[in-house]
Amino acid sequence: MSAAAKPAAASPGTAGGDAVPVHVGIIMDGNGRWAAARGLPRALGHKAGAEAARRAIEAAAEAGIGWLTLFAFSSENWRRPADEVHALTGLMRLYLRSEVKTLVREGIRLRIIGERERFGPDLVRAIDAAEAATAEGRRLNLNVALSYGGRAEIVAAAKRALEQGLDPATLDEAAFGRLLSTDGMPDPDLIIRTSGEQRLSNFLLWQSAYAEFVFQDVLWPDYEARHLAEAIGEFARRERRYGVRAA
Ligand code: IPE
Ligand code: IPE
Ligand code: MG
Repeated sequence: MSAAAKPAAASPGTAGGDAVPVHVGIIMDGNGRWAAARGLPRALGHKAGAEAARRAIEAAAEAGIGWLTLFAFSSENWRRPADEVHALTGLMRLYLRSEVKTLVREGIRLRIIGERERFGPDLVRAIDAAEAATAEGRRLNLNVALSYGGRAEIVAAAKRALEQGLDPATLDEAAFGRLLSTDGMPDPDLIIRTSGEQRLSNFLLWQSAYAEFVFQDVLWPDYEARHLAEAIGEFARRERRYGVRAA
């Protein structure tokens, strides 16, 4: 049922909806179109996108969100032209180095989910160092999904289950969830996608089973705190049922 068709029963703080989602996932889409609209190379769209990510992280912390997962590079994005992949990995290297101090100061704990090994030893070292340096952050848990794909994650978890010789009789959803990269994290309550596209593109497939989706018609580099506030407002109006019959 579409959000618009739902009764306006859920108000912030009631059983129907919580004012602020605990975990927000964002599919940061539209960097290329933002650049193209300005006659700029796509790489500059990604650079502007990284600045928007910085703003969104701050806005999420300010809004009292506990967990923020940013989809920055998918397993499938490796198939983009080499120069674009190069530009993106260059930005990752730059930001991992330049942002650590700010993250520590702001109480933000960074974790990278996805197949980090695919980026090579240099970037793996930078990721490990950034995670270690920010490990004490308590204000906001920030996950950045890099070389992440939901299907790859599920297959990796299944492989792990087999390797560990887990007893099929004891394998339930909770046990399987512990084999995923999001072990110990709450499922996303709200998933936002920018740029007008309305699909998951392999983001948090398992974890988004009961997420609310908000699609916003703004290209990611133009994303401001007010867009996040709007998405949170929309979330607060939703009525979540989890398959249980409405009262
Ligand atoms: C999102 O922007 C960033 C990545 C997927 C890395 P896009 O690069 O997908 O931008 P569009 O969708 O082509 O506009
Ligand atoms: C999804 O965006 C991945 C990220 C935002 C990192 P894409 O632009 O890669 O997705 P598709 O190709 O439009 O499905
Ligand atoms: Mg895209």
